[in-house]
Amino acid sequence: MKPLIILNFKLYKEAAGKKALDIARQIRNVKHEKYEIIVAPSLCTIQEIAEKTNITVFAQHTDYVPLGAHTGKISAEELKQIGVKGTLLNHSERKIPLPYLTQIVERCKKNKLRTVVCASTISEIKKVAELSPDYIAYEPKELIGGNISVTEADPDIIVKAVGIVHQINPKVKVLCGAGIHSKEDVGHALLLGTHGVLIGHSFVKARDPKKFLQEMLL
Ligand code: G3P
Repeated sequence: MKPLIILNFKLYKEAAGKKALDIARQIRNVKHEKYEIIVAPSLCTIQEIAEKTNITVFAQHTDYVPLGAHTGKISAEELKQIGVKGTLLNHSERKIPLPYLTQIVERCKKNKLRTVVCASTISEIKKVAELSPDYIAYEPKELIGGNISVTEADPDIIVKAVGIVHQINPKVKVLCGAGIHSKEDVGHALLLGTHGVLIGHSFVKARDPKKFLQEMLL
């Protein structure tokens, strides 16, 4: 199981609309035998990237509905049909009430979509670990978008999170994200016991995203 590098495009202008495929295509040429690279583009660009690149694509969010009369919702079934392989859930910028989150994780499992459930605190980690997602991503909200990496800010809490999740459900793997901006941050995250990282602005807003990512993976 290779460690994950999940690149969350969010809705940054540098990775939205017509630019999304370009930035995704830059990743194709990055050598990364040691890691599994996953991109999480916006909903409007996700199908094109899934169909026109060989990169693993995750949604940034999925709703708890099946196909049917659900205006404006995102269903696991449709994501699966268009070649999406997984989804972030409960991101700090897209929180999901626990009852719905429970249903979504179940529906994603039925549709064989990998699940990365985000959590901002230790108490939230404990709650979402019970849902048995594939991954839990610890992302302290106050560090998201900043230049202090979660691995620098409070490494002990990452070790604590890994221990708690292992106690509740050893099958669930822990990731971390927020402020990750260097290969040292990636290496530190793995040393602390996580199975990978989520990266947002430092990749998307890099002057040369391909070069930035290549250096991250050295
Ligand atoms: O999902 C990952 C994202 O929230 C991290 O954002 O910009 O701090 O790398 P950023």
